Amino acid sequence: MASISIQGMTKRFGATTAVEGLDLAVNDSEFFVLLGPSGAGKSTTLRLIAGLEQPDAGQITMDGQDISGRFPAARDCAFVFQQYSLYPHLSVYDNIAFPLRSPMRKTPEAQIRERVHEVATLLHIESKLDRKATALSGGEMQRVAIGRALVRSPKVFLMDEPLSSLDARLREELRVELKRIQKRTGSTVIYVTHDQVEATTLADRIGILEAGKIQQVGTPIEVYEQPATLQVAQRLGSPVINALPANWTGFRSPRGAVHAAIRPEDVQVVAGDGALVCRVIEASLLKHEMVVERDGIEIHVHTAPEAVFHPGDTVTIHCEPARCLYFDVKGQRMDPLPAHRPSH
Ligand SMILES: Nc1ncnc2c1ncn2[C@@H]1O[C@H](COP(=O)(O)OP(=O)(O)OP(=O)(O)O)[C@@H](O)[C@H]1O
Ligand SMILES: [Mg+2]
Repeated sequence: MASISIQGMTKRFGATTAVEGLDLAVNDSEFFVLLGPSGAGKSTTLRLIAGLEQPDAGQITMDGQDISGRFPAARDCAFVFQQYSLYPHLSVYDNIAFPLRSPMRKTPEAQIRERVHEVATLLHIESKLDRKATALSGGEMQRVAIGRALVRSPKVFLMDEPLSSLDARLREELRVELKRIQKRTGSTVIYVTHDQVEATTLADRIGILEAGKIQQVGTPIEVYEQPATLQVAQRLGSPVINALPANWTGFRSPRGAVHAAIRPEDVQVVAGDGALVCRVIEASLLKHEMVVERDGIEIHVHTAPEAVFHPGDTVTIHCEPARCLYFDVKGQRMDPLPAHRPSH
């Protein structure tokens, strides 16, 4: 396996800058997830690493060696594409076996058979091995594409939203399986998704990508609890973090703060009167969540499992001042006020 490092990488398509000045270091045996919205430059980043796109600027190193000038085949990355690109004239078996039959690898057929069956069982497509690749559902094709990557032992796995067209149950199952395989084999994986649940459950570290730029890199907990920007804070967490006007809570906020952001789980509904009296707008009993409103501002809160509220009810909420995150006019995170300073 290998470590990957990207320095100052930029890629433009005409007037569009897909990736801009990207710096990224992925460790050997790390499960690294790139998380970002549609159009953020996730696929372009993977394609640049694989050598399928040429950068306008920047360098890529693998285990400290510059590989920027190498052809894709010489980079030894196994790629699972966002649009599964199977060989339509081949069977599922031959699609999965394909990488092992390349002139560079020349694996004995008995060994190929063993590997293909192993991988197909893992992905629940062993009964489909004789089918033509075109006679499969979207989710099955996606699993064949994953199988074609897993059948090898490359330096790096590059996976572009590999589970996106599977149903929820299978997605969860394969997520657990992928993580298990990665841990067992010590593989280096760079995995692209726009799904925060996938990102936080799979990643050793997450890189948040927005508009071609890396916003923050950290463990899921670091990124969740210490987001560098409001955009990052809003990328992780469901329901999304509450971004309130800085003075809304009535707490003392750092000078220049524009937003006070607080996670739904840090807002409690309390009995009795208090400063933050709100009206219930929406209450989901199943999810123990509700939306309340005060001065025209809506806030998502978690509720205790036994609590029953209805739209129109009046409730009092409490937020812990220490759990508030403050952001300036540019959305950059600000240091909180020291807790011991007397208020004025
Ligand atoms: N071959 C191309 N020609 C022109 N523009 C491109 C090309 N490939 C990507 N782009 C543009 O570059 C930007 C980044 O695209 P990219 O495919 O990397 O995004 P993404 O994060 O993978 O999005 P998604 O989640 O929708 O797959 C987009 O604005 C896209 O339109
Ligand atoms: Mg993409």
